[in-house]
Amino acid sequence: MSLERTYAMIKPDAVAAGQTGQILALIEQNGFRIVAMRKLQMTQAQAESFYGVHKERPFFKSLVAFMTEGPFVALVLERENAVAMWREVMGATNPANATAGTVRKMFAASIERNCAHGSDAPETAAVEVGFFFSASELI
Ligand code: RTP
Ligand code: MG
Repeated sequence: MSLERTYAMIKPDAVAAGQTGQILALIEQNGFRIVAMRKLQMTQAQAESFYGVHKERPFFKSLVAFMTEGPFVALVLERENAVAMWREVMGATNPANATAGTVRKMFAASIERNCAHGSDAPETAAVEVGFFFSASELI
């Protein structure tokens, strides 16, 4: 199997709680290479666009407010089967359903404030990477 890339975020709740380093350590311990990384804050327009697929969902407004409330860490991660593996390392969307030892089980407070993001497919990953990084930053 060849190397694959995914887009990941350490969400504002985890950055504010000082959990960035612990989550980055788990990323590297699970065999991901950090291809790109930046701390930044999303504007409302960026969050609405990034999560546009959810715009009809009841939690959309709240999700946009959460994702713009403070800085987050944007990451491009690489390993074999990166998309599926990062979702496995993160655990279920709702931490109540997440397996012990997963990032969300360890650090997430609720289904919304769930500390991390991972792309759901390689095609989505390519689009999401392009939201926050230019090609020359992928090193
Ligand atoms: P993500 O996109 O952030 O990696 O998470 P995911 O695939 O596991 O979950 P998704 O269904 O794509 O939902 C995106 C984010 O919206 C928030 N959410 N809130 N209140 C709710 O019922 C609810 N459901 C989802 C979470 O922050 C979730 O990660
Ligand atoms: Mg998703």
